[in-house]
Amino acid sequence: MAKSAKHSKKPEIGDLRDWLKATKALGELQIVKGADWNLEIGGISQINYRRRPNKAQLFDEIKGYPRGYRLLTASMGSTRRMAMTFRLPSGLSDQGLVKELRGKPLKWETESVKFPPHVVKSGAILEEVYRGADVNILKFPTPIWHEKDGGRYIGTGCAVITRDPDSDWVNSGAYRVMVLDEKRVTVNIESGKHGRLHLEKWWAREGRCPIAICLGMDPLLFAMAGLEIPTGIGEYNYAGAIMGRPVDVVRGPATGLPIPAGAEIVLEGWLYPDKQHKEGPYGEWTGYYSGGQRTAPLMEVETLLHRHDPILLGAPPGKPPCDYSYMRTVLKSSMIHDALVKAGVAEIRGVWAHECGGGRMLIVVSLKQRFCGHSRQAAAIAAQCQAASYMNRYVIVVDEDIDPTNLEEVMWAVCTRTDPATDIEVMKKTWGSKVDPMRREPGPTFNSRALIDACRPFDWINEFPAVAEASPEFVRKLLDKWGHLFAE
Ligand SMILES: Cc1cc2nc3c(=O)[nH]c(=O)nc-3n(C[C@H](O)[C@H](O)[C@H](O)COP(=O)(O)O)c2cc1C
Repeated sequence: MAKSAKHSKKPEIGDLRDWLKATKALGELQIVKGADWNLEIGGISQINYRRRPNKAQLFDEIKGYPRGYRLLTASMGSTRRMAMTFRLPSGLSDQGLVKELRGKPLKWETESVKFPPHVVKSGAILEEVYRGADVNILKFPTPIWHEKDGGRYIGTGCAVITRDPDSDWVNSGAYRVMVLDEKRVTVNIESGKHGRLHLEKWWAREGRCPIAICLGMDPLLFAMAGLEIPTGIGEYNYAGAIMGRPVDVVRGPATGLPIPAGAEIVLEGWLYPDKQHKEGPYGEWTGYYSGGQRTAPLMEVETLLHRHDPILLGAPPGKPPCDYSYMRTVLKSSMIHDALVKAGVAEIRGVWAHECGGGRMLIVVSLKQRFCGHSRQAAAIAAQCQAASYMNRYVIVVDEDIDPTNLEEVMWAVCTRTDPATDIEVMKKTWGSKVDPMRREPGPTFNSRALIDACRPFDWINEFPAVAEASPEFVRKLLDKWGHLFAE
């Protein structure tokens, strides 16, 4: 992929501003002027997420804020923007994008050692630096995204940077950040996440943990921060492997942590075990306020860095489709497809981790059946492979004539090729989550999942009724002759 970027003479994307130029060139950038940070930006973004394909929306002249203090949403809400962000060829379909991505995570992982971040002396992020009494994070047009949110969330499409105190491993995770006042935020890092691991080690050793929060950058770095990259591998390295060149970073003036040289806004400071604050409620990726209000570590901002006319990168979760559900769907679909192939499941024709399930809860696999039990094998592995195991709820397996991305077709197969009494298996005590709306406090975080075998029964597949529709060959011929009827 690095090669294709190199040879295709496309301008190289180094930061969010290059990315915006490339999006404009695709005709997928919409400038929105005069919206209110208080609910309007969130609401307009929600309406945008629900049109297909949507546009990247760059909000400017936000009510009460100077022109140039901007905010971007829906960065990766279309196939073309996803492909561009991942430095892939243009002109791909949804499934084409998944196909293009297949095998890549393994390759990036292997190559990541070759791409440690490159430390440079200066960068645009150092254009404006504020310390101590001069720090004011209220200068940014942070939205209240949804009506029932407990506060203004500045960190949504963000990257929280921490370093392992025992090694060179620098982690970057998308953990939400809520504004408390001019100088304080909360940082919500769930247990088990890499950032949390670092936090706990630092707390045990030094009583505080240095962090840098990057709030606007090349969306590739946000995608990396929101993706479960293996323990010990830095997201900068991974992004470097995708781009075919290292990410340029500068040292944060307060913490020394590496921050993207072309970032838009960065907050630096320390988290302490005994400094916590109420956080939330905030809409979750499941589409509910299922996390409630809890406490999260509080950060007093030591240093605020930003470019002139900074751009916040927004990516609020919520009822799907949300800001980043398409990104998760595409990435998870390719990872699950790879996992099935790696596990030896034959004849997989497509995988789609639907956005309505947040890219996790509903997975459809299509395959060409070759033997009795083939479809159940695929279902069980799809439900439990590492990429899908957390918070999956339904796996549907369909024959190769069904497009897994098309829910109408998938449900037609469910309606016509299943016998509920024998074609639905249930797995119990599987890996659930605190944010599962079906979990009641203080219950354990198990869930259950159904595997729906919506393939024609293999033992009498040759007797199964033929589909009543014009054959694809005949449709092609008709379109050659009659295509003008359907041109508009
Ligand atoms: C927009 C967005 C918001 C997220 N918010 C949180 C969050 O508040 N807390 C959290 O623990 N994980 C959150 N996640 C999930 C993590 O970013 C994801 O699990 C990632 O892999 C974490 O990085 P790590 O694997 O290096 O810990 C969010 C993901 C995205 C895309």
